[in-house]
Amino acid sequence: MLECAWDLLEVGVVNRHHGFHTPTLATIDSDGAPDARKIVLRQAGRADRMLRFHSDARSEKAKQLIAEPRIALTFYDPAEQTQLRIGARARLHRRGGFADAAWAAISPMSRRCYLAEQASGQAVDWPLSSLPDSLSDRRPSLAESEGDGRISWRSSVGRTSWNGSTSPPRETAARAFRGMRRAVSRWTG
Ligand SMILES: Cc1cc2nc3c(=O)[nH]c(=O)nc-3n(C[C@H](O)[C@H](O)[C@H](O)COP(=O)(O)O)c2cc1C
Repeated sequence: MLECAWDLLEVGVVNRHHGFHTPTLATIDSDGAPDARKIVLRQAGRADRMLRFHSDARSEKAKQLIAEPRIALTFYDPAEQTQLRIGARARLHRRGGFADAAWAAISPMSRRCYLAEQASGQAVDWPLSSLPDSLSDRRPSLAESEGDGRISWRSSVGRTSWNGSTSPPRETAARAFRGMRRAVSRWTG
């Protein structure tokens, strides 16, 4: 079952149309209230039970993750009719080998997400890009793409819970199911 989960996570990394590409990340805010939003799954490391994500270092979620690294991730793919719930612990990387390697793999155009003058999640009257005017309609140079916002983070998967439903059976990783099923796994190491 766990191997099926990792199969789908690996598909989610490379296939942007797969439901597992954009899980919901739940955190706890500074008042102790739950907070949740979509994020993109960037890497799934089966061997070390690691999932990698990218965020703006100035965002609320980055502050929340520093204060409380325990998170919940919910993945759902409509085609597979499969939900995967993961409990994990997040670790943020601003500099160093892990962060530098992740950053190096992002093209200058994609780095525009981290160059906004206002951090993501801040209240505004109207949803605009918040990019500096000089970058609104062009690709930044490599030097310009080195913004303040860059951060990558990894989460160590500790608990997974899986619900699947396949009827009729599909030729997918979820094919082990007949009707709705649930499986729970915990790592203690
Ligand atoms: C489809 C989709 C993908 C997203 N991917 C990311 C992502 O990879 N990283 C991220 O920090 N925010 C991502 N966002 C934006 C977040 O959902 C959220 O709106 C933003 O990061 C601010 O959240 P915060 O105030 O809780 O930090 C994505 C939003 C959508 C709709």
